[in-house]
Amino acid sequence: MKYAPSILNAPFDQLKSTISSLKDAFMLHIDIMDGHFVPNLSFGYDIIKQVNVWKKAPLDIHFMTTHPAKWVEQFLPLLPQYMTIHVEAKDVDYSIQLMKSHHIGVGLAIKPSTPVEMIMPYIQDLDLVLVMTVEPGFGGQSFMVDMLEKVKQLHQLKSKYEFIIEVDGGVNDETRLLCEDALVDVAVVGSHLFKQEVPNDWLKKVL
Ligand code: DX5
Ligand code: ZN
Repeated sequence: MKYAPSILNAPFDQLKSTISSLKDAFMLHIDIMDGHFVPNLSFGYDIIKQVNVWKKAPLDIHFMTTHPAKWVEQFLPLLPQYMTIHVEAKDVDYSIQLMKSHHIGVGLAIKPSTPVEMIMPYIQDLDLVLVMTVEPGFGGQSFMVDMLEKVKQLHQLKSKYEFIIEVDGGVNDETRLLCEDALVDVAVVGSHLFKQEVPNDWLKKVL
């Protein structure tokens, strides 16, 4: 299993050195929030443009926004590896077409209350499916173990379609083992990683 550090709970007083120290990250997970789809705000384009200069791994941008198309459009110049929008949001078709036409990996996320079936109309276009293992909006919440049932369901679809499975929220030293057992491809890790004295040592340890 690979790891994508989420910078939502990174130490902001040492953002540059922290981000450039994450040499063993598979991707760098960036949470973009609009204060409407989720009751919180995170980063704007200009900060992430700077993060993109410091980063040591490709960007994996997770849009928790009601109208993702305009956000997708704004972040295109950063050429992330993946952009992930929520299936519960508006303009899903148009946002996917935008990503595809710019050769960005297409990701679709599902909230804890959303069943896997909701992604089926888009499945042919997906490169990544993100299973939220906490309610989106905040770092530091507890991992919802029953979401791993969705990972099982997605594995059945993998025999027919080509995409990777990512989980987001509550990953720590115990829950990461459950994700490994469930054959998750990429686990996002936020607060647990930044609690470590040397975050990149943790990434090396779990490689
Ligand atoms: C939650 C975000 C996550 C968050 C994960 O809405 O999508 O990416 O940063 O943080 P932890 O690992 O602390 O749950
Ligand atoms: Zn996220």
